[in-house]
Formats: sequence, C-alpha cells, structure tokens
Amino acid sequence: MTVADSTSARASTSASGSNPNAAQEIAFEVAGIGKTFPGNPPVVALDNIDLRVERGEFLVLLGPSGCGKSTLLEILSGLQEPTEGTATFNGSQIHGPSPELGVVFQDASLYPWRTIAHNVELGLELKGTPTTERRAIAADTLASVGLAGFERKYPHQLSGGMRQRAGIARALATRPEVLLMDEPFGAVDHLTRIQLQHELLSLWERDRKTVVFVTHDVGEAVFLADRIVVLSPRPGRVYRQIQVDAPRPRQRGDHQLLDLEAAIYGILHELGADRLGTDGLAGPASADASGDDRLAADRSEREVQNA
Ligand SMILES: Nc1ncnc2c1ncn2[C@@H]1O[C@H](COP(=O)(O)OP(=O)(O)OP(=O)(O)O)[C@@H](O)[C@H]1O
Ligand SMILES: [Mg+2]
Repeated sequence: MTVADSTSARASTSASGSNPNAAQEIAFEVAGIGKTFPGNPPVVALDNIDLRVERGEFLVLLGPSGCGKSTLLEILSGLQEPTEGTATFNGSQIHGPSPELGVVFQDASLYPWRTIAHNVELGLELKGTPTTERRAIAADTLASVGLAGFERKYPHQLSGGMRQRAGIARALATRPEVLLMDEPFGAVDHLTRIQLQHELLSLWERDRKTVVFVTHDVGEAVFLADRIVVLSPRPGRVYRQIQVDAPRPRQRGDHQLLDLEAAIYGILHELGADRLGTDGLAGPASADASGDDRLAADRSEREVQNA
C-alpha cells in the first residue's frame, strides 16, 4: 500500500489514456468543487476539490468533524449544488437525486409509520414499480442484508444495527449503480459495526457497485477502502490520497493494515486534526492553515507526478 498518491495517477491514466472507453470507467468526476454556505461570516466548507471515483471502486472519504465530508457526499448525491466547479456522474452533470445513486445516512432515516418492507419500497414507489414486483424486491433485498422475516415490523421494533441494515436495503432496492454512505455505522455499537462492515464488503464483492463511504474512523477506512481520500480541516481540500492494496479478504489486526493506520494517524496529526482549533473544531495548529494545506497539496501533487 502506498501513502503517496499513486491512485490519482492511475485514475488520470485510465481517464485520459488511449482507450476510447476510458471515460466509462470513471463513475464520478469532480473538478474544482467549492461550497460556501451563506451567512455572516459565510462558511467555506469545500475549496477546489478535484476527485475521480472509478467504477466499482470502494472509496473512503476520511477527515475530522466539520471538514466537509457530508457536504461533498451530498453534492455527489445531488442533494446539494456546489458553489464552484462541476460534478459529473457517468459523464453527465449531477442535477438532483437519481435512482442510480443510493444514499445511506448515519441514522437510517426510516419512516416510523411505515413497516420495514414499506420503507424499503419507497424508492420503487417513486419509480412507479408495480406493487407485486415491489414486494418481491423488498423481500429479496431485506434477505440480502439478513432481515428476512422482519418485513412487517416497524422501525421501533428493530435494534439500531437492524435499522441500519434496513436503511442499506432501502438504498439497494432501486438497484443503484452507486452507494453513497455517510457514516452509516456511526450510531451502532462496536461489534455490530464490525458485522455491518463485513456484510457491506460481501455485498460489494458480489455486485461491485461503486461505493463512496464517509467516516472519521481510521480503522474502518483501512479495513474497507480501495483508496482513502483524506480531507483537510475546514475548508475541506483533498490533502492526501492513499491506495490500500492490502489483499482481500482483509484481517483486522493485520500488520499491513496496522502500519497504514499508524501512517494515517500521522497524517491527521500533521493536519492538526487530533487537536481542537480555536473555533472548537479540529483545525491546523498553525495560524496560516491555508498556507500549510497548500504546501501539503503541492507536495501531494508532486507525489502523484512522481508515482
Ligand atoms: N446547511 C448548512 N448551512 C451552513 N453551514 C453548513 C451547512 N451544512 C454544513 N455547513 C458547514 O459546513 C462545514 C462542513 O460541514 P459537513 O457537515 O460537510 O462536515 P463533516 O465533515 O461531514 O463533519 P462531521 O464529521 O461532523 O459530520 C461545517 O463547518 C458546517 O458547519
Ligand atoms: Mg458529516
């Protein structure tokens, strides 16, 4: 595995090489994305993000609280518009949510008055799928996340981990090409989290959907990812990209993964992400944070070119 930025180099090669179908290998392309929320003062959440996500890739966005991970994911899912730059999916500009993009949030966001099956059927209802077909798909998808037999229960009758599984089933039901997941296991206990990580990897290995997964958990990132993109504290910028080429299936506690975790903690320390900034958010220790970040970004850029 490399802490240098070899994946970006690989992504650029596949997009701009001589293969005429190369563009089809890129699921998302984000160019010069910025996002400023209005206010007094305005909040610059993201600044000049360039990112490509390959089809079938498991990409993890990692960074401290407030660095813009959710904002970036919402832009990819069409729930937010960037204030600068462009974001495309399969070569077309992203305009609003799409059934191709399944989204899973930190809390499963299930409707409490609907049964689990009816929650899972929601996207299919919006697509106009006939009732019998919807029922069958909901039952299949719930079975694929270990919830067979729970179709007629209501969300309050399920444990937190089961609700998360139902949230994943709801995202999978429309057969999306992509799963966009925002700290989907953040609210469950440690053992359930480990179990859900395994289940997600099995689903991913079976279907090879493109996954963009947000977390601030370093162990989770190295266990799941093909590539980890570390964002700097606000404004979020791509600070480092890390290729995780440890073979799958991965073993927790494997030395290669532990070494990578240590390297990532080093990067987060470099960013000051393990210390509280003056505004109560994790932030760079230096007063000239943006200068530091630019230097780091320049260095990262050189690493790509040298890779
Ligand atoms: N709708 C909004 N209006 C104003 N500011 C916002 C809005 N959404 C996000 N922000 C600000 O943008 C910045 C990035 O927020 P975001 O939620 O993307 O961070 P995050 O990396 O997902 O954090 P966390 O790990 O805590 O979930 C924060 O400073 C936040 O206060
Ligand atoms: Mg968030």
